[in-house]
Amino acid sequence: MTAYGSFPGARPRRLRTTPAMRRMVAETRLHPADLILPAFVREGISEPVAISAMPGVVQHTRDTLRKAAVEALEAGVAGIMLFGVPEDEKKDALGSAGLDPDGILQVALRDVRAEVGDELVIMSDVCLDEYTDHGHCGVLDEHGRVDNDATLERYAEMAQVQADAGAHVVGPSGMMDGQVGVIRDALDAIGKEDVSILAYTAKYSSAFYGPFREAIGSSLRGDRKTYQQDSANVRESLRELALDLEEGADMVMVKPAGPYLDVLAKVADSVDVPVAAYQISGEYAMVEAAAEKGWIDRDKAIAETLLGIKRAGASMILTYWATEVAQGLGAGR
Ligand code: PBG
Repeated sequence: MTAYGSFPGARPRRLRTTPAMRRMVAETRLHPADLILPAFVREGISEPVAISAMPGVVQHTRDTLRKAAVEALEAGVAGIMLFGVPEDEKKDALGSAGLDPDGILQVALRDVRAEVGDELVIMSDVCLDEYTDHGHCGVLDEHGRVDNDATLERYAEMAQVQADAGAHVVGPSGMMDGQVGVIRDALDAIGKEDVSILAYTAKYSSAFYGPFREAIGSSLRGDRKTYQQDSANVRESLRELALDLEEGADMVMVKPAGPYLDVLAKVADSVDVPVAAYQISGEYAMVEAAAEKGWIDRDKAIAETLLGIKRAGASMILTYWATEVAQGLGAGR
């Protein structure tokens, strides 16, 4: 008998003895192709504009967006998710700039598609909040409530103009009931059967979207609690999931990622389509801010958050660190 007890055979620490051993037995690995870069492009600027709550992330000009796409591609990143930021005077109650074939997002889609072709998966956000003067993800009825079905008509057209502009994948993020089905029909109706839908299936109302709202210059007052999910719920996500799959979602997403890993794990366990997770602006900002204060090791913290998301079941991770992390992985870090 040893000090350890009477069954000394089992010593899990043996498999942690050296970096090489730990590397060999690792159950989860990050690969550049797991990563998707969300990127913002702003109309009417000639230099990129820094986003104060997201150090290192900018609102791109059309030109710097093209460069960012090439850089992501060269690093081995899988895809890019584009968000448009229109000029302030182009915002209106209906979010019209989002449906304009010459709106900023559509122009940027054409730019990026011309630059990288099919080498990078090009995705675009189908949602009105970037384009509405009230900042909601849909249009409002006469009582100021978000009108689900009137919004669906806008989303259908929005998905069509994005597909026409070169999106390989559209990502409806507005949490309107029926959005996936309506978009699928709209795409098929214009011969875009090959354009996929990445459904924001379980999207929670979250305080961690704060920095994003600065990034897109959101006009929102109030919150999105009548359409985004309540953070108390998980069963509700499985209901959303069933509906999205029935409506034709090709891929599904859980968002935010870090505070919802249990939801991610449940969703990943119950589907046979690829599952994405969106590590959102506030998750990014927290790590950057703590690192800047010298309170945590930035690179290790980033790796740990991403590994956690992958371990929970995501096969694709949207993260503002995508290019940097992919570059590091390529360099063998
Ligand atoms: C809505 C949308 C949001 C994000 C992506 N698409 C935010 C919201 O619901 O206000 C958040 C992304 C992030 O915080 O990084 N179009």
